[in-house]
Amino acid sequence: MRRFLAATLAAAALSAPAADRPPLPYEAKGTHLGVVNCASSLCHGSISEWKGSNVLQNEYVTWSRVDKHALRAAQVLTGERSRRIAANLGLKQPAHEAKVCVDCHGHNPPAERRGERFKASDGIGCEACHGPAEGWIRSHVAPGATHERNVADGLYPTADPVALARLCLSCHFGNKDKFVTHRIMGAGHPRISFELDTFTQTQPPHFVADADWERRKGRWDGVRVWAIGQALAAQEQLDVILDPRRGRDGLFPELVVFDCHACHHPMSDTRWKPRVGTRPGAIRFNDANLLMLRQIVRATFPADAASFDELVLQLHRGVAGEGGDALEAARRLRKGLDGVVAKLRGREFGDRDLKAIAAGLVDDGVAGHYGDYAGAEQAAMAVASVMNFLARRGALGDVRAANAALDRLFETVKDDEKYRAERFRAALSGLRALLGR
Ligand code: HEC
Ligand code: HEC
Ligand code: HEC
Ligand code: HEC
Repeated sequence: MRRFLAATLAAAALSAPAADRPPLPYEAKGTHLGVVNCASSLCHGSISEWKGSNVLQNEYVTWSRVDKHALRAAQVLTGERSRRIAANLGLKQPAHEAKVCVDCHGHNPPAERRGERFKASDGIGCEACHGPAEGWIRSHVAPGATHERNVADGLYPTADPVALARLCLSCHFGNKDKFVTHRIMGAGHPRISFELDTFTQTQPPHFVADADWERRKGRWDGVRVWAIGQALAAQEQLDVILDPRRGRDGLFPELVVFDCHACHHPMSDTRWKPRVGTRPGAIRFNDANLLMLRQIVRATFPADAASFDELVLQLHRGVAGEGGDALEAARRLRKGLDGVVAKLRGREFGDRDLKAIAAGLVDDGVAGHYGDYAGAEQAAMAVASVMNFLARRGALGDVRAANAALDRLFETVKDDEKYRAERFRAALSGLRALLGR
């Protein structure tokens, strides 16, 4: 029974790990030239979109005017809140000079890989996502340039959903090199939430995945992007508990991978309700991504759905000391997810899949699976993404009613401290009818 994707051990062979893992921009070998090299009005700094070009040409304008990576990320480090965080942590440098902060709130490649015109004050610039430009800045505008060729020359493959997820998560959750620990949160850092498809849409995007984009870069399927984002987020989180160095902090495990609100709420507000896999007085693993993967596994590997659920249950039991081996479950989930990602790469989601996923999310929610805020928040973003696709494909009956119902749903997850599972469930049931059930 317990063989989540054991049958797809071949899937491990399917995903060639090396090709899957191009160096992240901060790890790459080339020289980072600086935003100024991309910003000319004849390059990516045009005021308006160019009609005859493959790309919009106004990416710099979008980035510098409305993208928080340019406007806020670095500036935030000189503010009052960051001063307090740095002081609470006892950092020797101010936040805007401390590697632990600038690695995520800026673009911080090693000194020897910075060109003459590279400026740290540019914030999270083009090369923080697209990779050091030295290798491709000339060739990517030469006649006959192709996307494959640019990537071979060191352009980071942002169009590939697996590479994209690794890139965004490296800062929006953290990885082996940089990570917002509970120690940093305890010093005053805000909780981080992330969902790849939603955040790609709200960045806001400076690209349009139209027919021309797809001809150059392959198909953009937002549901696939969502699904791959969930799998990689779960893997990053499981990596933390599996790593003896990152997974512990003194006597306690690293607390960031658990449900924040299991600990953070007033004692007078008694919330305990029986739930499978846990017990009163236990902290709970933050299973938000795993709850989303439950739907993804069901839609993509129906034969493995039961064993996936079983492993998640074993993880919860182990965390609560109720008789499962949490680390063993984490290891097997981690490995099985490699197979899921390999298969998702080529997966096309049709209207029926989308409706099944949306309905599964709604049904699980109504059945009470999203008792913790983090799961509810992910479910709300997922339902919205999936319904948005259905609407764009013309497969959703009443779009206006759907938008109103989604607004009511988001209202219930607006503030994590005021989250009430009953209200979330009620709002979800309002969506059920719209999905034709
Ligand atoms: C692993 C990456 C990472 C690290 C390390 C990190 N941060 Fe952050 N930080 C983020 C992300 C991502 C957000 C945005 C959270 C959101 O809005 O979802 C954020 C948000 C913030 C905010 C709130 C920003 C706002 O717009 O209100 C402050 C302040 C902050 N970080 C300061 C710091 C300081 C100081 C350090 C160093 C001690 C630090 N951060 C380390 C990723 C990181
Ligand atoms: C936070 C990450 C991030 C930053 C910062 C960023 N980009 Fe992008 N960019 C993306 C993503 C994601 C895509 C979409 C995937 C793709 O087309 O490869 C993209 C796509 C593009 C495209 C291709 C559009 C197409 O149709 O092929 C261009 C050109 C571009 N970005 C230029 C820039 C420039 C110039 C800057 C700096 C001013 C910049 N980007 C900063 C993430 C980023
Ligand atoms: C180098 C680190 C880094 C990378 C890579 C990165 N981000 Fe961010 N991102 C941040 C930080 C830090 C913030 C917080 C800015 C602030 O509010 O102070 C942020 C903010 C955002 C926001 C605004 C969130 C809000 O609360 O308003 C969105 C959306 C976003 N990022 C999407 C993405 C996406 C999509 C990718 C991948 C293409 C990505 N980011 C890659 C560091 C990064
Ligand atoms: C196992 C219980 C536990 C979990 C889970 C937990 N925390 Fe904490 N948290 C604590 C304790 C204990 C403190 C220290 C409280 C104190 O100093 O008074 C703390 C302190 C904090 C503080 C500083 C509060 C203050 O009064 O200065 C923040 C912010 C915070 N945690 C955020 C989070 C976030 C975000 C998460 C989830 C990602 C989380 N915590 C998960 C137990 C937990």
